[in-house]
Amino acid sequence: MEKEHKQIIVTGAQPTGMFHLGNYLGAVKNWQRLQYDYECFFFIPNLHSMTCPPYVPAELRKTTYSLLAQYLACGLDPKVSHLFAQSEVIGHTELAWVLGCILPVGQLFRMTQFKAKSQDKDFVGSGLLYYPILMAADILLYNADCVPVGEDQKQHVELTRDLAQRFNQTFSETFVLPEPYIMKTCARVHSLQDPTKKMSKSDANKNGTILLFEPVDAIYKKIKSAVTDSGSGIFCSPEKPGITNLIEILAGITDRRVEDIEDLYKGYNYGDFKRCVAEAVIEHLKPMQKRYEELIKDQSYLRAILDEGKAFAQERANRMMSKVYRKVGMLQYG
Ligand code: TYM
Repeated sequence: MEKEHKQIIVTGAQPTGMFHLGNYLGAVKNWQRLQYDYECFFFIPNLHSMTCPPYVPAELRKTTYSLLAQYLACGLDPKVSHLFAQSEVIGHTELAWVLGCILPVGQLFRMTQFKAKSQDKDFVGSGLLYYPILMAADILLYNADCVPVGEDQKQHVELTRDLAQRFNQTFSETFVLPEPYIMKTCARVHSLQDPTKKMSKSDANKNGTILLFEPVDAIYKKIKSAVTDSGSGIFCSPEKPGITNLIEILAGITDRRVEDIEDLYKGYNYGDFKRCVAEAVIEHLKPMQKRYEELIKDQSYLRAILDEGKAFAQERANRMMSKVYRKVGMLQYG
């Protein structure tokens, strides 16, 4: 099959609810484009979603299907890419164990995401500390060449490269060193209410985050009430984080360059510019929302896609794990 000769991409988004515009513009929109040039493993890292308890198990099951429906609505194509749930392919956690044994624990305590997510928490599970190793296993299990992510995940991909190198040096050449693939525009989409912070599902101020599948009038209102900066003019500048964020959003959603947006909207005031951004975002999202509504009703179709993806991924995972277990001195795999 032609797919076999392409470079490999592995990436995924956590099933913790609805995608926001940051997930879409920083990641999923590009995955859609890349799937025709690479062999892509787009999986659902549902085991990662256990790392910030408390969570509701029945909800996690639902959001796993929802995430798949969102992948499909965003244009990921099961005929072209492999779509599956992490927990359903044996090998992710096994490889994570092996990798954990060659990484000094201090490196995990220094990870930015661990520090941020464990701050001011009464309970910090070991899973949160171990999170980057499971992510490295996700990537190395399929020998990815390339990992398209938003900027916030770059450090995790760097740790993956480090782990691949350590393994290769300790046990002999096995893993490709994967490259992070980060877009120039929209690598970090910011909150509409505090443009110095990244847009995030967990933001307490819900007006700062645009969810892809929320009602379009809510989207319109959120963009219209986005915090802008003092002064005027539609151009990017470190002194204008609010307008810079909106320019990047418009560039990302319409596939144009930031410079072209600055040129095109030069004479606009903030209010009119925000209206144009809102209209462009809504026009882009509307057909996707319609598609999501259809898909989410058809769980047996979603299940069938996961089954197919799982079968394909499992074969690849078995091949890699047999090799890894042999190299690290286990008797046999499985
Ligand atoms: P997650 O679920 O937090 O995010 C999914 C993708 O969206 C990107 N992203 C953003 N991009 C731009 N601006 C933002 N405000 C923004 N917020 C999120 C993320 O960078 C990511 O690309 N650990 C991963 C999931 C994972 C994974 C993997 C990814 C598990 N194993 C293996 C790649 C390869 C995560 O929690 O992403």
